[in-house]
Amino acid sequence: MRMKVFVIAALAFVSLVSVIDGSEHEAQLSEFVNDALFSSVSSKQPSQPQPLMVPITVINGAAAKGAVCLDGTSPAYHFHPGSGSGANSWLIHLEGGGWCNTIRNCVFRKTTRRGSFKFMEKTLPFTGILSNKPEENPDFFNWNRVKIRYCDGASFAGDSQNEANQLQFRGQKIWLAAIEELMSKGMQKANQALLSGCSAGGLASIIHCDEFGSMFPKSTKVKCLSDAGFFLDAVDVSGGHTLRNMFGGVVTLQEVQKNLPKSCLNQLDPTSCFFPQNLIQHVQTPLFLLNAAYDAWQVQESLAPHSADPSGSWNDCKANHARCNSSQIQFFQDFRNQLLNDVKDFSKSSPTGLFINSCFAHCQSERQDTWFADDSPLINDMPVAIAVGDWFFDRKTIKAIDCAYPCDTTCHNLVFNVGRSTVVGSQYISESDDTSTTTTMIYSSQSSRLTFPALYLLSALFPTSMFLLHLRIEVLSRFFSHST
Ligand SMILES: *[C@@H]1O[C@H](CO)[C@@H](O)[C@H](O)[C@H]1NC(C)=O
Repeated sequence: MRMKVFVIAALAFVSLVSVIDGSEHEAQLSEFVNDALFSSVSSKQPSQPQPLMVPITVINGAAAKGAVCLDGTSPAYHFHPGSGSGANSWLIHLEGGGWCNTIRNCVFRKTTRRGSFKFMEKTLPFTGILSNKPEENPDFFNWNRVKIRYCDGASFAGDSQNEANQLQFRGQKIWLAAIEELMSKGMQKANQALLSGCSAGGLASIIHCDEFGSMFPKSTKVKCLSDAGFFLDAVDVSGGHTLRNMFGGVVTLQEVQKNLPKSCLNQLDPTSCFFPQNLIQHVQTPLFLLNAAYDAWQVQESLAPHSADPSGSWNDCKANHARCNSSQIQFFQDFRNQLLNDVKDFSKSSPTGLFINSCFAHCQSERQDTWFADDSPLINDMPVAIAVGDWFFDRKTIKAIDCAYPCDTTCHNLVFNVGRSTVVGSQYISESDDTSTTTTMIYSSQSSRLTFPALYLLSALFPTSMFLLHLRIEVLSRFFSHST
């Protein structure tokens, strides 16, 4: 029963994303862009619904419990109540957005929505797994759906502070305060619950999966979904360990080891226990891993970051997989093989689920175009939403692993249009908070790709991201009103 969701999906162009202030904003920005796409289409197609906009809720009394964002402001979430058969079902989705691993980039983060309530959007569109429409989200549309905002910089798992720089690292307390409040709002009566999250939130959903399960009686069906949260402890293109070094900073600065499984810490160092490949064997609650085999964030920031490739010899390839030469593709195949090897034992356990498609994508559950749409990504003719739903409700065993690149023609690959200088999403791991670098990221299918030189030009002219975003949405709307 896949309904037509996007008329413009036929254009194969789905979203445009700015990484001007860190690729961590991609999911957020893409939601705005989806919004713009919906708007431009709905004027021509009165039957196309607007995305649900959900207002923010501050967590009551969180500050009194020490559960605060990096800058000491209150944490928050967005909640849309369930109805009908979903009235006692709960989806808790943890927002993503990179990490901060140094005093300097944590201090910077206090001035963004990833570190302070002050800068958070006060309403968010609920799309993909958060949508309230059965034709967009067939299994979870009428559940109670919650998106918990991410403002601690350590995947909701740190617990420390730095007084000299007025930094609070309270991810674990934020997580607990949010769950406690939602329990009091009816979640304690849940008969089924799913903890999900994307990117840094996808890692958080693995870390907190058993804790979440333990908060419900045995009679409650509880499962977890990690979307684009499988960050590999991989070697980068220069033979270094970029991501391990970054995770090491996050774990040490925010004292994340306090909240990692003891069973892992008995065997490995705390940084290793922040990597999903070493965590998943300790998770008892049924877990589903949804991940692109060539996760676009990891390609950009872990495998071929500027620091590992100062001459920029990977720039063309990492911006667009179609421009990789055979040895570069082989590097990505080795990465995929490492991922498949790391999930081999996990996949043998019956309650687990897998959807590893051979795409250059990142976060496929929050976006409508990748979750459930006419041209959304498939493995064996199965879209992501159906795979996750079948697994949650035990309708089918789902261990979907795609054939290797380039066999999959249903991907929505991310393509980057790199601006003046070369660094992409440098804010994650770079010491410089260089917001003058502009990169345009385009989600496109393999069949056709549209690039937007006008947008690229605008992004070079106006370095303020919000301003840019609005400009881009305007241009997009104009583009689509001409083309539809
Ligand atoms: C592919 O590109 C990289 C980076 O520019 C280069 O070092 C390598 O030699 C190339 N390999 C082939 C097979 O052309």
